Order: sequence, then structure tokens, then C-alpha cells
Amino acid sequence: MASTPHCAEHLNAESPFSSQGFTAKSPRMTQALLTPDAKLAAAPVVEAAAQPGGQSKKVFVKTYGCQMNVYDSERMGDALTRDGYESVDSVEAADLVLINTCHIREKAAEKVYSQLGRLAKLKKQRNAEGGDLMVAVAGCVAQAEGSEILRRAPVVDVVIGPQTYHLLPEALNRARRGERVVETDFPAEDKFDGLPAAPEKSIRARGVAAFLTVQEGCDKFCTFCVVPYTRGAEVSRPVDRIILEAERLASAGVREITLLGQNVNAWHGKGAGDREWGLGELVRRLAQINGIERIRYTTSHPRDMDEALIAAHRDLPELMPYLHLPVQSGSDRILKAMNRRHTAADYLRLVERIRAARPDIALSGDFIVGFPGETDADFEDTMRLIAEVNYAAAFSFKYSIRPGTPGAGMEDQVDEAVKSERLARLQDLIAQQTRAFGRDCVGKVVDLLLEKPGRNTDQLIGRSPWLQPVIVDAKLGEIGDIVRVRITQPGTSSLFAEVVE
Ligand code: SAH
Ligand code: SF4
Ligand code: F3S
Repeated sequence: MASTPHCAEHLNAESPFSSQGFTAKSPRMTQALLTPDAKLAAAPVVEAAAQPGGQSKKVFVKTYGCQMNVYDSERMGDALTRDGYESVDSVEAADLVLINTCHIREKAAEKVYSQLGRLAKLKKQRNAEGGDLMVAVAGCVAQAEGSEILRRAPVVDVVIGPQTYHLLPEALNRARRGERVVETDFPAEDKFDGLPAAPEKSIRARGVAAFLTVQEGCDKFCTFCVVPYTRGAEVSRPVDRIILEAERLASAGVREITLLGQNVNAWHGKGAGDREWGLGELVRRLAQINGIERIRYTTSHPRDMDEALIAAHRDLPELMPYLHLPVQSGSDRILKAMNRRHTAADYLRLVERIRAARPDIALSGDFIVGFPGETDADFEDTMRLIAEVNYAAAFSFKYSIRPGTPGAGMEDQVDEAVKSERLARLQDLIAQQTRAFGRDCVGKVVDLLLEKPGRNTDQLIGRSPWLQPVIVDAKLGEIGDIVRVRITQPGTSSLFAEVVE
């Protein structure tokens, strides 16, 4: 899924071990918060990872899939750093390769095996030279295929599913003793409680916009989707853990947080006074944290978009006016077969309510073309819905059969050529809408969060409230600053802007 907003595409989502140093500066970021983490202190200390001769171990992490994988890779990276690993940015320089995988479509899952084939060659070469290479497979392919991965790819030492990452250091120790490890249970304990919090240095290195997973798993069981099987049931992280983590991020220079969840707006928890909170209340509380200037969240399900969250969009300047709200199809017949549990009209009414609360909100979505049984008329319904909503961006895919999901067994699978033709038409319409959205931004005065250096040394790249990358003169400020600019021209994938006097 090379370019969905769920992907490792976020500005902040280069290598989770990116060595790019950011020196974030935030005028409002004065309150240092270094509350010791009791659970962390109690985390088991694993065997030192230093090799004989005192050399440190080197790990290369490759992340596929959604932002939740990016976040998980960061947390696993923090655990490995604690255990003496140093991150490197190539497979060749690594003693341990950790691949965090995605199972959402067939292509995504198959990528893993071609990667493992290359690693097998490297390991053979290393062994011939008296060295070694350890390989761990994490993520949704690990969960879906478990020991099958060990069978298909003998190079793999550890297979570890998304809910057992706190067991990674121990699994690596077991593998070092010669065991081939598979950890794919859904344990009762929260993996995040067993993983160390990011050290300040790592947070700073990752930049001024950070991910924070607040919810995991899915109970919706759309008939095309593997996520409920690979990530398990919907679980919300507790309010106090989320606040603590957001405060740590803020005190290390983070100014924008993106709350993550497979169904992030299904998040709920016990807030102040033991009251049950939804995501709207959580966002309100997080907006009070000194230093956190911008909040986003993704991905939302239309059914979980409640009044409190819509009101948060109306009331909170910190909540950015951009919402990823996948609908998948515009045909009620197909939506029913997909088990989406909403109609096209429900979705359109919801969009109307959200826009009434926050008129400048930009919407993005996900679409699947060629779901089993989709006729030309169903597809035209989808095109009509897109025309009606007018998206700022959207991500679209040909239906991919996923083993074990109800869709896989459905009759009337759609011909590949038909899927391709529908996808091309749909993407063309979305591209027109995205271009028009960019053009409409010209002349607008917006606040940019400066996030990273541009391609040219005299440029910086910031994000608009609508998630667009905007290129500005580097003299405008420093990374971490929020500057007011006027959009001057649209580019192919970014905008240009100048300072407002
Ligand atoms: N939880 C999110 C989406 C997670 S997966 C939601 O409910 O919207 C991200 C996107 O991948 C989905 O929105 C869907 O458009 C796409 N997708 C999921 N399964 C797919 C499949 N079998 N074939 C093609 N696209 C798929
Ligand atoms: Fe998959 Fe549907 Fe759950 Fe989204 S809501 S993760 S598409 S099953
Ligand atoms: Fe892929 Fe798993 Fe995310 S299947 S999209 S990595 S939840």
C-alpha cells in the first residue's frame, strides 16, 4: 500500500531509526516532564546484546504497512536500543534485520517473501565468512502466517505478532540460543506497558510530528479485511498512559501528534471523575498539553464518528481540519456485502454534519473497486458519491482476495481487467479533486508547522493544516516553529508559500 495515509508515508515516517537530527524549538515548550515510568523501570532486563569483543549489535528495521506499524517499529527500536543495539540504515551493516510486515493485500504480503529470499543469500554469504545474520519477522504477516513463515523461509529466526512485541527481547535471546521462535498469541497484558518509553534523544531524532497509538484492533469484520484477524479485538489504551506519553513527546519538542488506531474513533476510556470518554474528550484533554499545538487522528470508521468528536472539530483550533474517513464504496448493495454497516446516504449525511461543524475540513477516503459482485452500476454509484463529497485526497485499491476472510469465498469475483479499468477512472476523478483542492489553496493564509529540510538547503518543508507539504524559504524559521504564510502556487505533490508580512 505504497501511498495510503495509513502508510509509512508521513513526513515523520522515514526509517524509524532515522539518524537525521532535529533540533526542535518551541517557544511554548517550557514545561519539562520527566515523570519516571514505574512499569518501565520494572521491565525485564535482557541479556546484553554486545558481541564477544565488546562490539555493539546492529539492527536494521524495515517497516511496511500502516502508521501503526511505523509506531510499533519505533517502540521495538526503543526496546532494542535499551538492550544495546545500535540502529543502522542498511541490511549489509546489520547483525539483526527486523521486518515489520503488512498483510492487507496480497502484494503487500508477498513482498515479505522476496525480501526474505534476499536475506537468505546474505546469511549464506555471512556464514561462509564465519559471521551470522539474525532475521525477525513482525507485523500482520507474522500474525497471519505464524510458523508457516519458518517453513517457507528457513532464514527466519523469530516470528512475532503485533500483540507480543514486549516479548521481542526475550524471543531474540531464545533465538540466539538456537531456538526458532513463534510468538503470535493475544496476551492479556498490554504490550506497550512492557516496552520502554522512547528516550528523549530518539523522540527528537524522529522530528516534531509524532505518532501515538491510542487504540488497536478491530471488531467490525468488513468481509474483505484481514485486520480483525491480525490485530485482534478492539482495545483502547488507558487515558493516563496516553496523556503521559503525549507529555513526554511534548517535552522532547514534538508539536503535532497523530493519534493512531485501526478504528481510532472507537477509542474510549475512563477520563476525569471516572467519566467514560470518547475520542472527542481525549482530544480536548490532549489539546491542553503545553507544547502540543496540533492534533490529528487516523483511521476513523463512519459508524464511530460521534457528536462529541464532531464538536471537537468545531471547538478546538488544535484539532487539524483534516479527516480520513473511508467509505470503500458508494453502492448500498456492495456496502452491505462488505458488512460496512452504513449506507451511502448515512455517509453523506455524516459528511454534512462534520462540514457544518467545521466548514474548512478536508476529507480523504479509501475505496475498493471490484469487490465480488460489483457491477458497472455499483461502480457508478461510487463515482457519484466521490463527485458529491469532493475529496481533498483518497486512496484506492483493487479488491485483493485475502485468505480466511468471507470475501475470499464469495462468488462473482470481478475480472482483473475490469478492476483495473474502474480503478483508473476512479483515480482520475480523485486526482482532479486533489488538484482543484490545491489550486483553491492559492492565496490562503495558513499556519505551517516546519518539519524538515527541503531538497534545497535554502528551503524547509512544513505541513499545512490540511496535511499538504508546503515548501518555504529556510529563513522563515526553524524546524518546530509554526509560521504564518500565504500559499503562492501549487506544485505536483506540494505547495509553495511565502511569509505574510
Ligand atoms: N480501519 C481502516 C482501514 C484499514 S485498511 C478502515 O476501516 O477504514 C486500509 C485500507 O485498505 C482500507 O480502508 C481498504 O480500503 C483497503 N483494504 C483493506 N482490505 C483490502 C482488500 N482485501 N483488498 C483491497 N483493499 C483493501
Ligand atoms: Fe478492516 Fe473494516 Fe476493521 Fe477497517 S473497519 S480495519 S476495513 S475490518
Ligand atoms: Fe497492514 Fe496490518 Fe496495518 S495488515 S495496514 S500493517 S494493521
